[in-house]
Amino acid sequence: MKKTFFLVNAVIIVLAGCAGSRAFDVDKELDYCLQQAQKTLSSLKDPAMIPRSIAHGDTAWRLVNYRDWTSGFWPGILWYAYEVSNKEDWKAAAEKSSRSLFPLVDSSAIDHDIGFQLFCSVGNGYRLTRDSTYRQILLRAADSLATLFNPKVGTILSWPRKVPGVDWPLCHNTIMDNMINLDLLFWAAKNGGGKRLYDIAVDHAVTTMKNQFRPDYTSYHVVIYDTATGRKIKGMTHQGLNDSSMWARGQAWAIYGYSMVYRETRDPQFLDFAQKVTDVYLSRLPEDGIPYWDFDDPGIPQAPRDASAAAVVASALLQLSTLMSDEPKAKTYYVKAINMLIELSSERYQSREINDAFLLHSSGHKPNGGEIDASIIYADYYYLEALLRLKNISENNKPL
Ligand code: GLY
Repeated sequence: MKKTFFLVNAVIIVLAGCAGSRAFDVDKELDYCLQQAQKTLSSLKDPAMIPRSIAHGDTAWRLVNYRDWTSGFWPGILWYAYEVSNKEDWKAAAEKSSRSLFPLVDSSAIDHDIGFQLFCSVGNGYRLTRDSTYRQILLRAADSLATLFNPKVGTILSWPRKVPGVDWPLCHNTIMDNMINLDLLFWAAKNGGGKRLYDIAVDHAVTTMKNQFRPDYTSYHVVIYDTATGRKIKGMTHQGLNDSSMWARGQAWAIYGYSMVYRETRDPQFLDFAQKVTDVYLSRLPEDGIPYWDFDDPGIPQAPRDASAAAVVASALLQLSTLMSDEPKAKTYYVKAINMLIELSSERYQSREINDAFLLHSSGHKPNGGEIDASIIYADYYYLEALLRLKNISENNKPL
C-alpha cells in the first residue's frame, strides 16, 4: 500500500494512503505488552532465572541464568515497563533482575555479548534512575568489552573461543551483532570512561563497514581476520543460510548499529551507510514487512519468519527518522516502521492467549535447529522499545 502522508493525534497514528488508511493505537499496544509481561513476572519462581524463549506450540518459558547472551533483555523489558507506567512495582522488579547480572563484571568479558547483557538492562536502569551503582557497573563492563579490541584488525573479537571451521586462535572473528555493543562504549566514553572507548567504537564501525558487506550492502554474519596482521581472511555465516545469503537479523543488527553510530558521532558517512544497509533490506521485504529468517531461503514463502528482525528494524528506523534532514526519506522510514509495528501488533504476530510473550514467529538459530518460529525475548524487547520510541516521537513532536 503506498502511503502518501501521515497524521499524528496523541498516540493514535493514522497512516493514510491511496488504498485507504490504517490507525495504530500505540498506548493500546503498550498496555498489551505490560499485561503480557505481568503474566511472565507472576510465573517466575526463581528471580535468578531469566526468560529467554518459548518453543513453537509450547507455553512455558525456557529460562536461562545471567551468563546467557540474552540475559539483559528481560530486565530491559522491566525497565521499559517502568518507563511506560511510572509504577514502582515495575521499578523494583527491574532493579532486582538487573542486579542479578552484576556478576558479569567480576571476571573479564568472555565475549562481545556483555554489551547486550548489561546495556539493555543496567543501561536502561541508569538512564531512568541515575543510580551511581549502575554507572560503575557499566563503566567496568565497557572496560571489559574493550579488552577484546584488536588494534591490528580494528574490531572487537566477538567470540574468544573456537568457531567451527575457523583456525583458532590464529583467527580473529567479528560478527555483525557486535555492532550493538558499541552503544555501551559510546555511553561509557561520555560518562567518565575515556575517549579511548569512543575511538574503539568508531574503529570497529569503520572496519566492519569496509569488510563485512558485499557490494550490494547485504552483510556477512561473520568476518574472519588474521589475528596477528589484521588481514581479512573471509566472510562467512554462522546463523544464516549460507556464506552469500542475507540473514535477516544480521542485516537488522547492521541497520540498528549504523543508525546508533550515526546518532553518537554525527559523521555523515555513517548516516549514508545506515541508509544503504536499510534500503537493500526494505527492497527485499515481503509485502507485510516481516522478513523471512533469511532472505535467500529457497523455501520462501514457506520458510519461517523472523519477527525479531522486524522489531529491531522498526525500532532502528524510528530513531533514524528523527536524525535525518532528508525529510521525504525520513518520512518513508517512519511510515515503514509504523507499518511493521502494525503487522507485529496483529493477531498473526502477537502471542495474546497463546503464551505469555509479546510476539510469535521469531527465528533464533535455524541452521542448528534452535528456536525456530518461536517467541524470543529479544523480539519482545525491541518491539516494546519501538513502541516506546514511537510514543516519544509522537508526544514530543520530534522532527521527522
Ligand atoms: N547471536 C545473536 C543473534 O542471534 O542475533
